[in-house]
Amino acid sequence: MGSMSKDYVTYATNIKKFWDKNAHERHDDIKSGNDKTYVEIITPSIVDMIKREFKSNISILDAGCGSGYLTNEISKHYCNITGIDISEIFISIARNEYPNLTFHNKDIYDIDFEEKYDLCLATMVIHNLPCLTVFLKKIFSALKKDGFLLVTTLHPSFWPRERIKNFDYSENEREYQVPLRGRSDRTYSSLLSYFHRTLNAYYDIDGFQVLAFEELYGYEDDSERRKKNKNPNILVVLLQKINTNTQIKPLKNEGFNSVKKALRRILKHRSE
Ligand SMILES: C[S@@+](CC[C@H](N)C(=O)[O-])C[C@H]1O[C@@H](n2cnc3c(N)ncnc32)[C@H](O)[C@@H]1O
Repeated sequence: MGSMSKDYVTYATNIKKFWDKNAHERHDDIKSGNDKTYVEIITPSIVDMIKREFKSNISILDAGCGSGYLTNEISKHYCNITGIDISEIFISIARNEYPNLTFHNKDIYDIDFEEKYDLCLATMVIHNLPCLTVFLKKIFSALKKDGFLLVTTLHPSFWPRERIKNFDYSENEREYQVPLRGRSDRTYSSLLSYFHRTLNAYYDIDGFQVLAFEELYGYEDDSERRKKNKNPNILVVLLQKINTNTQIKPLKNEGFNSVKKALRRILKHRSE
């Protein structure tokens, strides 16, 4: 991990502490249906997307699975699924709630993946992580050739605009400390790091190509009103590992110039 490793260790300790402290509350928010966006929009959308795209015999890694609610919903259609999380409290809740499923209490950055998966999920995880490229390298190594990655994150164009004062869209990997809202709209006891990235960060990822984007409209936080947001505040991205024999590396999004570059690249690829 090079020079970021010391920082990352401190960071991982903090994130583990945050979730160990707040795991029961987060699990209650989900199980009681209080987090309507998660239960009624994010979870069914992900399950539907997976069912639409993948056969039932694939192997799935739920990276940063929390208390395993989504892992369990997916396991109703896909029996080969494993959840991993750095928080031991989350993992003990998950094992208790879903004793038939497999969960490991591990830091994704510390795993040398021996078993390879067809699909890896990172649901509401990466916006809390400092170095996207390091995380993605890990996930890359956990996937089979041609494997897929399904990322669900806070929408970088809309979510921060509503929550963060003086938000600067153009600054990549800038860290903001934000409160996390919970049961009855009360906030969790400590702030959580939110790392903002522009849309390009998801589009231009080494070793992966984007297959699809989906934008979801969550509910507003105000529990009295419970109406859908007018802007999509959740982004879902489906990526696939690039197989250099058959696929072309996706373009950087460079505006209209990219069309010319795309054509050049495709022609070059065809002539090779
Ligand atoms: C917002 S929670 C989302 C949990 C779950 N995916 C869900 O959709 O409810 C983010 C999760 O990522 C986990 N996490 C963060 N960094 C991790 C790491 N390096 N290794 C494993 N899990 C990690 C946290 O402990 C936390 O459970």
